[in-house]
Amino acid sequence: MKLAERMSRIGVESAFDVLVKARALEAQGRSVVHLEIGEPDFPTPAHIVEAAKAALDGGWTHYGPTQGLPELREAIAAYVSRTRDIKVGPEHVSVVPGGKPIIFFPMLALLEPGDEVIYPNPGFPIYESMINFLGAKPVPMPLEEERGFSFDLDLFRDRLSDRTKMVILNSPQNPTGGVIPHDDIRALAEMLRERDVVVLSDEIYARISYGSEPPTSITSFPGMLEKTIILDGFSKTYAMTGWRMGYGVMPTWIVDAVNKLMVNSNSCTASFTQRAGIAALTGPQNCVDQMVAEFRKRRDAICGGLNQVPGFRCAVPGGAFYAFANVKGTGMSSSELADLLLYEGGVSCLNGGAFGEYGDGYIRFSYANSLANLEEAVTRIQKLAHRWTSVAVR
Ligand SMILES: Cc1ncc(COP(=O)(O)O)c(C=O)c1O
Repeated sequence: MKLAERMSRIGVESAFDVLVKARALEAQGRSVVHLEIGEPDFPTPAHIVEAAKAALDGGWTHYGPTQGLPELREAIAAYVSRTRDIKVGPEHVSVVPGGKPIIFFPMLALLEPGDEVIYPNPGFPIYESMINFLGAKPVPMPLEEERGFSFDLDLFRDRLSDRTKMVILNSPQNPTGGVIPHDDIRALAEMLRERDVVVLSDEIYARISYGSEPPTSITSFPGMLEKTIILDGFSKTYAMTGWRMGYGVMPTWIVDAVNKLMVNSNSCTASFTQRAGIAALTGPQNCVDQMVAEFRKRRDAICGGLNQVPGFRCAVPGGAFYAFANVKGTGMSSSELADLLLYEGGVSCLNGGAFGEYGDGYIRFSYANSLANLEEAVTRIQKLAHRWTSVAVR
């Protein structure tokens, strides 16, 4: 018996693989600083946990509506309308177990073999995995370090074709921390407005940004809400990765399709976690502000430290909690270097090439770890630098 042919085309997420390797080293007694996994290290805020406990005690332990609890969808619609300066209602919201299903379900519902999908590269690996899985055609959009890891609009225009069915945007971005500038989003909206395309706007890091203005959502430009799926969720904003709760905001004809896929796979998202989601969105938000202020300190510390390492160059990112260091100056491949850092240095990080071909030569450091551990990581990397300074041509 063989697996279906399409299984040869589905990818994985290397962060989880590297975490397993790092844990195996720890089991042998080695010390590892974890900068691989993309999740806030803060606990979920207490008032959210309390709301979940109260929901369990209150009997929210049964199936709920496939699309999500109406009160939560109301809260999400109000929150998304406020934060993106748009007007959406609960009928536009699908609540699902995590942000990822808002990649999986809409792509499954929309893409036919041969459809072209433009997506950021380096980018969240699940985009490319799903494009390939569905037999659609991946059209990578290189991100450019010198543009703060945004992309060249002329190149983007060249990549648009009559077969382009979907465009994926992700800002703030994983793995680079880049934020697409407001004017570039406006230009993208102008290029896409008249086209028959769907935009998947992955805004899961929308609240984790360090600029004076929040990142721009393409939905805030005329004509774009009607063709855009916003992906957001609770994982990153409220440190709730293990709760598995996210949502999409999209035109109702896509909501209907997502409902069908949900009823065939999950039935619904867990009811008591959705009650906690209401508390997250409607309760105090200073927990998010405090977390972001802490991330900013860590960002400055790790970027400052990495920029002192011979052969490393690290742009200061505008959002998310990733530093994407250019390591071409070491003369080593980023894959060899990531292995060296893990196995000899005890610093677990990700080869940028795991996020797509244009990520080669970079390493992603997730700075969702304490300042002390970030400093320790930089010290360990510095101690290994003799391994490449003796051979590097810089
Ligand atoms: C860009 C991006 N989109 C979506 C997700 C998925 O989030 P969740 O854990 O809520 O499924 C992640 C998680 O790492 C991400 O980095």
